[in-house]
Amino acid sequence: MIKKAIFPVGGLGTRFLPATKALPKEMLPVVDKPLIQYAVEEAAAAGIEEFIFVTGRNKTAIEDHFDHSFELEETLFAKGKAAALETVRGMIHEPGTVAYVRQQEPAGLGHAVWCARHLIHDEPVAVLLADDLILGPSCLAEMVASYQGGNMVAVMDVPKSETGSYGIITPGADHGQLIEVSGLVEKPDPANAPSNIGVVGRYIIESGVFAQLGTQDRGAGNEVQLTDALARQIGKVPFHGFRFSGERFDCGSKIGFIQANIAFAMSRDDLAEPLASWIKNRMALS
Ligand code: UTP
Repeated sequence: MIKKAIFPVGGLGTRFLPATKALPKEMLPVVDKPLIQYAVEEAAAAGIEEFIFVTGRNKTAIEDHFDHSFELEETLFAKGKAAALETVRGMIHEPGTVAYVRQQEPAGLGHAVWCARHLIHDEPVAVLLADDLILGPSCLAEMVASYQGGNMVAVMDVPKSETGSYGIITPGADHGQLIEVSGLVEKPDPANAPSNIGVVGRYIIESGVFAQLGTQDRGAGNEVQLTDALARQIGKVPFHGFRFSGERFDCGSKIGFIQANIAFAMSRDDLAEPLASWIKNRMALS
């Protein structure tokens, strides 16, 4: 039912300077794969067939990443590196299923999503933020399986002291994994936060959200906020939070990015043992 996904990759990534001066944040690798590729694979596992990237200046590395690299492929073929060749060829999508839209100014996540409006018809669409990396089963696949219309956001409990870093929901009826959302506010101070249930960068949005984004109203940080547009749809269409089963890492922050690298490496047979023993020895030194 949900066939299209939007990947907003137009942010400046200022928390990761100088690494992100010329390199898009979404191309930072966790172990050996860029963040954006994890998000694309998660979407594909959820049945997504059309991939829409909202890019900005300095983001051409993302387009190149999902395209053929003839010289590399020829060289890998000539050297008989079959596994590596399969890896790079396996990432290429069917022609016509990937689209790039340029966000000319980084005016916020809501603005980035709005830039894709002409590629979306009257249909629900997924939005994935690659810097929210989830270890475990595809979060979007879990959301799609429970989606019953309206809007849906992935949610998790966050420390009360950190509400200022998240969209925070006012919870309504709690059905366990699904929780009704009766209010949503972007980055509230802990003193004013309606709960400690925070939004993680996975959304399923219906067409009314695009109409709301079209007003271009600026919110927190003087940016067009997706959470504000979602909040304005409350009461008009159903709105649910979804508690996903994986573990989320905030790879837009340095500590989250480092934790993700360790957790993903520890989940791999080829790296878990040597990494664990190195960490143990390293900890003993400090
Ligand atoms: P962030 O809030 O992490 O902003 O954006 P940022 O600019 O990427 O990073 P910092 O805070 O400066 O370090 C959340 C998501 O929204 C996208 C980002 O690419 C990221 O996936 N985004 C943000 C856009 O696509 N356009 C924007 O104007 C802002």
